[in-house]
Amino acid sequence: MYEDRVRNSALLDRIVSPEEAALLIKDGMMVGMSGFTRAGEAKAVPMALAARAKTEPLKITLVTGASLGNDLDKTLAEAHVLSRRMPFQADPALRKAINAGEVMFVDQHLSETVEMLRTRQIGPVDVAVIEAVAITEQGGIVPTTSVGNSASFAILAEKVIVEINLSQSTQLEGLHDIYIPTHRPVRMPIPVVSPESRVGVPFIPIDPNKIAAIVITEKLDSSSTILPPDDGTRAIAGHLSDFLQNEVKRGRLSNSLQPLQAGIGTIANAVLHGLIDTPFHDLKMYSEVLQDSTFDLFDAGKLDFASGSSITLSAEKYKEVFPQLNKYKSRLMLRPQEISNHPEVVRRLGIIGINTALEFDIYGNVNSTHVGGTRMMNGIGGSGDFARNGYLSIFVTKATAKDGKISSVVPMVSHVDHNEHDVDILATEFGLADLRGLAPRERAPLIIQNCCDPIYRDQLMDYYKRAVARGGHTPHVMEEALSWHVRLAETGSMI
Ligand code: COA
Repeated sequence: MYEDRVRNSALLDRIVSPEEAALLIKDGMMVGMSGFTRAGEAKAVPMALAARAKTEPLKITLVTGASLGNDLDKTLAEAHVLSRRMPFQADPALRKAINAGEVMFVDQHLSETVEMLRTRQIGPVDVAVIEAVAITEQGGIVPTTSVGNSASFAILAEKVIVEINLSQSTQLEGLHDIYIPTHRPVRMPIPVVSPESRVGVPFIPIDPNKIAAIVITEKLDSSSTILPPDDGTRAIAGHLSDFLQNEVKRGRLSNSLQPLQAGIGTIANAVLHGLIDTPFHDLKMYSEVLQDSTFDLFDAGKLDFASGSSITLSAEKYKEVFPQLNKYKSRLMLRPQEISNHPEVVRRLGIIGINTALEFDIYGNVNSTHVGGTRMMNGIGGSGDFARNGYLSIFVTKATAKDGKISSVVPMVSHVDHNEHDVDILATEFGLADLRGLAPRERAPLIIQNCCDPIYRDQLMDYYKRAVARGGHTPHVMEEALSWHVRLAETGSMI
């Protein structure tokens, strides 16, 4: 039944139960596991670890591509298995453990983790656990719905556990492009010159002797948690498409735009979905997570090619896309996240990056990670890889959160992920602010007027005017700059 998936017959006798495989992982180890935004994560071994932690002391550093599905982060956090976690997560239970100080979370740019592991600035990786569609005759590992950091984990780890998932379609074979950059400081340029550049091999090349255990699984990926577009997200999409059409009119972009990146979540997915009703055509994506909107754009005949690091779909879209993956295959590619997010490639290809803010301030600084300045939401993910290096760095958010009690446009952000130097365009459902070439005193009135919810607009303009009266290149009333957040904490509202 699985002989056609484990094609190196010398490896067949390494098939064991998840519990036996998990015994390779000892207390205090660093474990690199596959998984990127709920796609392609190892599923059985981490569950076995969580069960084992009930009867023996077991704490590990867990490194993945990004967030995990199948409630794995929740299960591991609740079993107290995680002492340290990097580089991204999006689970409420783990978030709670992080914010309680129980789990040390290292929030990293997604392109950077394996560079640090490779040079032993962090690590070493003791064991890698990688979900695969198959193992080739030569022992190469064919990943499933994500590549993430899996290739480097398998290459760097002392021992590798492979989870062969029989539910993952063999149509995924051939979709991956595994390229590992050479060592610095004499690294050759990464030869990606367009989203469809194939520069590597379609499997993770490792010495098969390192494969210490193989586990057979059947559990599907979890579906994405994004919500369908609503009036607010449709309005944001509308402002962005008007802006991009204007760039075309001015001769700065063609109707094919430049390669697109869209961040995780409901808003970014809706914005991309909104491109269906525009004159743009022959679009390309060079992104990290490919969500429902990628396949909607394919089906609408708008998108020519999509390169990413994972495919994460809603339950309905999953049923539609995966049985007929071959239909899309020639237009899709999955790469290691250090390549999908590589700053050099992002700059060279001239990416239009669209990411989501929790809040931004009147000068264009963006907070994507910390609620109230202190509590971790998910992490910076790949947003910084794209924001600093893209051709256009766009941040979107709804103008308010929690039924209007929170303004997403504030005098000063309570935490900075993307500073004013990295941000070109801000958009909410009320409008868009084009910050390119503007000084702080020019940006503030534009952001307040175009992006702030009218219920907070006068309050914010009043702050700005009083700040200007005090002077400065970036005027602030310092003792009041975070007063909106203080008011929220004390009264439950920023009003
Ligand atoms: N203060 C407090 N909470 C806020 C907020 C603010 N200013 N703005 C939004 N929120 C809350 C929302 O109310 C919502 O809460 P809920 O889950 O309890 O309903 C939650 O944050 C998510 O917001 P939503 O408006 O649904 O947006 P989203 O699903 O698009 O997610 C981010 C927004 C910022 C959390 C998400 O995009 C993210 O984690 N970004 C950082 C990583 C990243 O950009 N990666 C891109 C490449 S991987």
